[in-house]
Amino acid sequence: MYQFAIAEGQDKPAFYHEVADALEALTAGEPDPIANMANAAALLWEYLPDLNWAGFYRAQGSELVLGPFQGKAACIRIPFGKGVCGAAAATGETQVVADVHAFPGHIACDAASASELVVPVVRDGKVIAVIDLDSPSPNRFDREDAAGVERLAAILAGRIGE
Ligand code: SME
Repeated sequence: MYQFAIAEGQDKPAFYHEVADALEALTAGEPDPIANMANAAALLWEYLPDLNWAGFYRAQGSELVLGPFQGKAACIRIPFGKGVCGAAAATGETQVVADVHAFPGHIACDAASASELVVPVVRDGKVIAVIDLDSPSPNRFDREDAAGVERLAAILAGRIGE
């Protein structure tokens, strides 16, 4: 059993610092990418408030393929460039979307999703996966969430490759 002392109610940078420490500990020394993505999704799901989906899409050729996640069953394949995840994969840039319904090409996997944060996981200059977080609340994610999840992506970059 894993137990993490991640306090709620602290400011976001401090909160993400603790999540990063937990992720670091959880994945250290484990080479299996699926195990590490699965535990990362579980950690995000347990500790980040106000989410309805948390997980991974993995880059395979010119599309993203569903990876370990928590939440409702989701669309399996997303071409690079399509929707929020596809935009993150195609540009290599974090996408903070306050209102998914206003995002061109947004793919509605769960009708409850109102806002979304997608962070690419980059290794050797290539997007190898994206971390996708969905919330039922509009404007749930800000630049501090983006920076916090980017830190998690940096940890995972060396731990979810083939
Ligand atoms: N809404 C996403 C698709 C993935 S699901 O939300 C899990 C998008 O537009 O990329």
